[in-house]
Amino acid sequence: MTPSFHVLNTAEDLHNHIKDVRRFLAPKLKSPLKAVVILGSGLGALAENDAFDVQERIPYQQIPHFPISTVEGHAGELILATLKGVPEPATIALMKGRFHYYEGYTMQEVVFPLQALSYCGAETVILSNAAGGMQKDFYPGALMWIDDQINLTGTSPLVGMNPDFLGPRFFDMTSSFCKELKKIAMNYAKEQGFKLFEGVYAGVTGPAYETPAEIKMMSLMGASAVGMSTVSEVLAARHAGMRIAAISCISNLAAGMQGKDLNHEEVMAMATNNRVGLRFQGLVIELLHHVLA
Ligand code: HPA
Repeated sequence: MTPSFHVLNTAEDLHNHIKDVRRFLAPKLKSPLKAVVILGSGLGALAENDAFDVQERIPYQQIPHFPISTVEGHAGELILATLKGVPEPATIALMKGRFHYYEGYTMQEVVFPLQALSYCGAETVILSNAAGGMQKDFYPGALMWIDDQINLTGTSPLVGMNPDFLGPRFFDMTSSFCKELKKIAMNYAKEQGFKLFEGVYAGVTGPAYETPAEIKMMSLMGASAVGMSTVSEVLAARHAGMRIAAISCISNLAAGMQGKDLNHEEVMAMATNNRVGLRFQGLVIELLHHVLA
């Protein structure tokens, strides 16, 4: 399928498109939109967790200007939900399916949904992904809290005219990942008796998995995990002043580290592994409780 490229020549075009999304979503929001969760490969089951009351399921095709997801394992649905047991009514937008640069979208298209949801009021984003692990003590199924990132895509969604209505031209990336949410996550993992690793995520374009030499290079650079998403979303979220938490589900050991070639089916199988999925869900729900407290 060919992605539908947007015509966004100016920041004003972007502003107009985002206002269209806001007009579309406003009547569907029963309470203020507070947070966005972007669900990575195989992690979409979070939306089915009964901690949520689902208000709306909106296929991406119905949302003005949303690109259409083309990759397997990404259904392409925006789910508006509330979390049971929180003091004040608040809506969470669960993005089941995201857009990747390797699908042919521009970086601006990749981050459009997140920018739009930020403009609709969401102040926090929880990002998730499946990633290749580069640390010796990692194993398929491990969860890693992202402390920092290395953008190896060679570009940024903020290249071009700055959308001033979202954020400033030049912006800080020093304190991108929320330390307070990290503390909550670490305590939760301890309570639940699993290890939450922490590390640096290297973002590449894909679609090829890396070469062993590239993995060695990224390892030397200080990265602990590698994947084909997230870094551009972190840039857009930071630009828009959002609070950011990001979690990698280690689906495989990175190229050259597992004694055999990488196989997409095996990578996906681990990403959809139930035990890992449930830990991940518990962790995200815990974070959301804190965000909405
Ligand atoms: N490399 C890049 N992206 C990935 C990997 C990997 O090994 N596993 C899951 N996403």
